[in-house]
Amino acid sequence: MLQVNKRGAEAKGSDAAIVADRLRRVYTKRGRLFSRPGVTVAVDEVSFSVPRGTIFGLLGPNGAGKTTTIKMLSTLLIPTSGTATVGGYDVVRDERLVRRQLGVVLGGERGLYGYLTGWDNLVYFGNLYGMTSGCIRRRAVEVLELVGLEERAHERVEGYSRGMKQRLHLAKALLHDPPILVLDEPTIGLDPAAAVDLRAAIAALVPERTVLLTTHDMHEADQLCREIAIIDRGKIVAQGSPAELKRRAEGERRIVVATREPLSHRDGAVEARLRDLSIARSFDRATTPDGGTELTVRCGDAASALDVTLAVLREQGVSVSEVRVIEPTLEDVFLSVSGRSLG
Ligand SMILES: Nc1ncnc2c1ncn2[C@@H]1O[C@H](COP(=O)(O)OP(=O)(O)OP(=O)(O)O)[C@@H](O)[C@H]1O
Ligand SMILES: [Mg+2]
Repeated sequence: MLQVNKRGAEAKGSDAAIVADRLRRVYTKRGRLFSRPGVTVAVDEVSFSVPRGTIFGLLGPNGAGKTTTIKMLSTLLIPTSGTATVGGYDVVRDERLVRRQLGVVLGGERGLYGYLTGWDNLVYFGNLYGMTSGCIRRRAVEVLELVGLEERAHERVEGYSRGMKQRLHLAKALLHDPPILVLDEPTIGLDPAAAVDLRAAIAALVPERTVLLTTHDMHEADQLCREIAIIDRGKIVAQGSPAELKRRAEGERRIVVATREPLSHRDGAVEARLRDLSIARSFDRATTPDGGTELTVRCGDAASALDVTLAVLREQGVSVSEVRVIEPTLEDVFLSVSGRSLG
């Protein structure tokens, strides 16, 4: 016990709320009559650390290993190898202490009682956590306000929209006042307005708390997270702040120039000039709804590409109706590190 307390004291001084160190998880599937046993390496030597008071995102496509990572950190799955600490406590040795530090929201509809009101669900789970009734009432008021459900708290959950249920899940995870929250795809399946509301509630959790979330929505990761680890096929393939990651994909910057008239009889000349100048990495053209042509030039240096493109078009006597520069997105980063789309 002395050791645990000492580790807890160390944890308070540490800057990282969550540390994963070469976490690995292998699933073995028993073979059926004619098939051989299978092995899936769901998480393969994943390491990262989440600074206190920040939102950290695990971004990756379906099957990347996000939920498996989250479950190991939440003590729901034992790692095959590697270690992890949450609030300074080891997820295997100090399971109970880890759970006390953590609020967990796993995806899916389960985990709430539809025939109870939102308020009664919180009271039920508060009792289950061993909280006193005074404490449950006080915290329920606070967390319902935090997630914006105070006015609907006394309605049955079965009448809640999906977004409201998801906010109640977050309120439930916050009930015992944990300093660290782990959220698995918190906005999946929500309509855009409900997702905006829930993201606002998540953003408001820091810096008082630390949040680890998983998502395959790059805009969500970009908007919410101080730091992102991109995970693919069980491995972290890139890590950094959204801005740092996007800088890595600068070659993916695009300029889009729309012309008033179709370029059909002159496009060969424009394309040839751009290719000659070796500024463009790729060159695409499409017809706009009003019959003009939209040129998309993929380039590292948007200013030069724009200069040249406009000059060439001017030489050709073509008038321009619109000009845009599209900065690289996290989707481009994922594409450049994995060769595939986020899906
Ligand atoms: N209980 C299990 N038994 C066997 N294989 C599993 C199990 N759970 C997950 N897997 C496999 O492990 C890999 C990682 O799955 P995981 O659910 O962690 O991915 P994910 O990134 O959360 O995906 P999603 O975006 O679809 O939720 C996948 O190949 C999946 O098929
Ligand atoms: Mg998942």
